[in-house]
Amino acid sequence: MGHASGKVILFGEHAVVHGSPAIAAGIERGVTASASASVSSELWLNGLPIERGSDTALAYEALLEALQCGATRTHAEVDIPMGVGLGASAAIGVAVARAVLESHDPNGRDIGKRTLLATDAWEKVFHQNPSGVDAACAFTGRCIRFKKSEGWHRIPLHSDLDIAICPAAPPSSTKQMVEAVARRSQQDSVEFRRVLLAISSLVESAQQALGTGDLRELGRLMDLNHLKLVEWGLSTPALEQACSLAREAGALGAKVTGAGGGGCIIALSGDQGPGEILRRWAAHGFHGFSTRVQAQ
Ligand code: PMV
Repeated sequence: MGHASGKVILFGEHAVVHGSPAIAAGIERGVTASASASVSSELWLNGLPIERGSDTALAYEALLEALQCGATRTHAEVDIPMGVGLGASAAIGVAVARAVLESHDPNGRDIGKRTLLATDAWEKVFHQNPSGVDAACAFTGRCIRFKKSEGWHRIPLHSDLDIAICPAAPPSSTKQMVEAVARRSQQDSVEFRRVLLAISSLVESAQQALGTGDLRELGRLMDLNHLKLVEWGLSTPALEQACSLAREAGALGAKVTGAGGGGCIIALSGDQGPGEILRRWAAHGFHGFSTRVQAQ
């Protein structure tokens, strides 16, 4: 069996593609996969076979090629909504790579490194130029700091974080959203760098707040990061409404998470827990769920 977590990006999505640091955390929901050698390679997701020639089938071929394992049949159960910024694609990649390696080469060397390389090959079929933050987070399942030039390391948390997650808008294409942000960088590079620097500085402050357990400050920083994503055109009316409802229900901060343009927002709950935020969303037709990011 291979398992991997979904993720939420707490700070720094998109900026991370342009070399800035980001902070992301594994969520409790994820993907579990099992694999066995077979006469032909097949991937099944939630009990359905993946169609030959589809992007997912090509990604599976790329993953098997990177692992240099023979024909394999893999079944994966995906407990995360897809295409809404919760890292489902990277989590499938990591879980499938783990299951394939376990079935072909359980005592092989460099299992971790090979898992990440195979996930990168898988992700490139969908995103062309993934920063790697999703794969690192799916791989560790913990709260990490990630920078393209440095890779990832775990961030020590002073206390657990309770996060409410709301898929408030239809799925969006990460590739298109990343391209839209890249166009902004070409149109006005000075302005783009200004926003990039502002987001980097929010990431540094957020890392401090996570270390000291200053959740009010963390929430304030999330709101500020959200405003930068709004400047880059990544929010939508539904995402704005879900953020406002969360803040009205006592969230310490709320923001778009992941690629934006659709998908999810996250809200940081205070001492009272995420229940009131989830109730407020449900009263307006938004169905969210919560996750706890463990300090240990
Ligand atoms: O997987 P998504 O849709 O949550 O987006 C990943 C985060 C981005 O920063 C937008 C892209 C990337 O490669 O880091």
